[in-house]
Amino acid sequence: MLFVIQKIGFWAIQARVRCILASILGIMEEFDTILQKNANSTELRVNTFMMHNTPLDAIGNTPLVRVPFDSPATFYAKLEYLNPSGSMKDRSALFLVTQAEQQGLLKPGYTLIDASSGNHGIALAMIGAIKGYSVIITVSEKISREKLDAIQAYGAQVVMCPSTAVIEDPHSYHSVAKKIREETPNSYMVNQYFNPLNATAHYSSLGPEIIKQTSGTITHFFSGAGTGGTLSGVGKYLKEYDPAIKVIGIDAANSYRATQGNPQPYAVEGIGIDFISPVMDYSVVDAIETVSDAEAFSMLPILAQKMGVLAGPSSGAVAYAVQKQAKKFAPNDVIVMIFGDSGRAYLTKNFYTVRGARMVCSSI
Ligand SMILES: Cc1ncc(COP(=O)(O)O)c(C=O)c1O
Repeated sequence: MLFVIQKIGFWAIQARVRCILASILGIMEEFDTILQKNANSTELRVNTFMMHNTPLDAIGNTPLVRVPFDSPATFYAKLEYLNPSGSMKDRSALFLVTQAEQQGLLKPGYTLIDASSGNHGIALAMIGAIKGYSVIITVSEKISREKLDAIQAYGAQVVMCPSTAVIEDPHSYHSVAKKIREETPNSYMVNQYFNPLNATAHYSSLGPEIIKQTSGTITHFFSGAGTGGTLSGVGKYLKEYDPAIKVIGIDAANSYRATQGNPQPYAVEGIGIDFISPVMDYSVVDAIETVSDAEAFSMLPILAQKMGVLAGPSSGAVAYAVQKQAKKFAPNDVIVMIFGDSGRAYLTKNFYTVRGARMVCSSI
């Protein structure tokens, strides 16, 4: 009898142990599935959004952020300063370098040379550091300290030139870059001011991105114009997508174009149409509006202190032009503005020190 009771107890314990084991196995299986799911989702997240071989793979896909102007319409700033070297010039500089490599014009060990108001030079300097090219950038005296330092921080050489009224002046940064190119063996001049591929870069990258991000609802596009590459490239893409989309360029009020050939000095960096170039395609541009230095700078503390967007002066110019006409837009209008670079590149110029900036905002 005792034996039978012992046997039953043993079976009960065995069954209990089996049960516990089964449930442990079950939990482990469940756990494995969860881990597997997490692993997969982590892998997906990592591969899609976070892991890149070099900063060059992280160029583009910058966010659109709402700007609460007082208007029935919807406004977005495309924060191009979130590109790896800090501006939309990452897109065009990489495109121009890659094309030159593919055409055999740029070979390992070569020196990259170009003229720049700063951001294109910073982008080229970053690309040179990654791809192993030496880089020489000619700049004009009005470049900010931060942009100058950034070019050099990437290991590039800077040649400072006087600010000249016209680009053809033999002392202009463009003319000096051409001369350096002639005197430097195994060198290639990217030539952002006269290379039409500058616009093609934005046609193939920024344009499609804006259509995708707005699900094709964009009605107006505003961009500063210097070389005209951003405006013309994106403008061409948008017009091909829907000819009704309005493309508006922002020029410096004292530029060569704005003054009909009688340019005066101006302080905004990046924008200003100061020459006739094959990069600028007026056939895809509906209007060009002009903004003075004071108007552009007046927007900077407002954007920083009311929106938390620390943007550079060309973004200030674009935002000023758009805000001025904000009430005229219709409720279904979707306006995209290019914010080309960050205010961090201009902090020593004291554009942001005005306290208590005022802006009339709508609620988002
Ligand atoms: C900050 C910024 N905004 C606007 C522009 C004008 O762009 P694009 O040369 O494509 O006309 C530049 C050009 O250097 C720039 O650096």
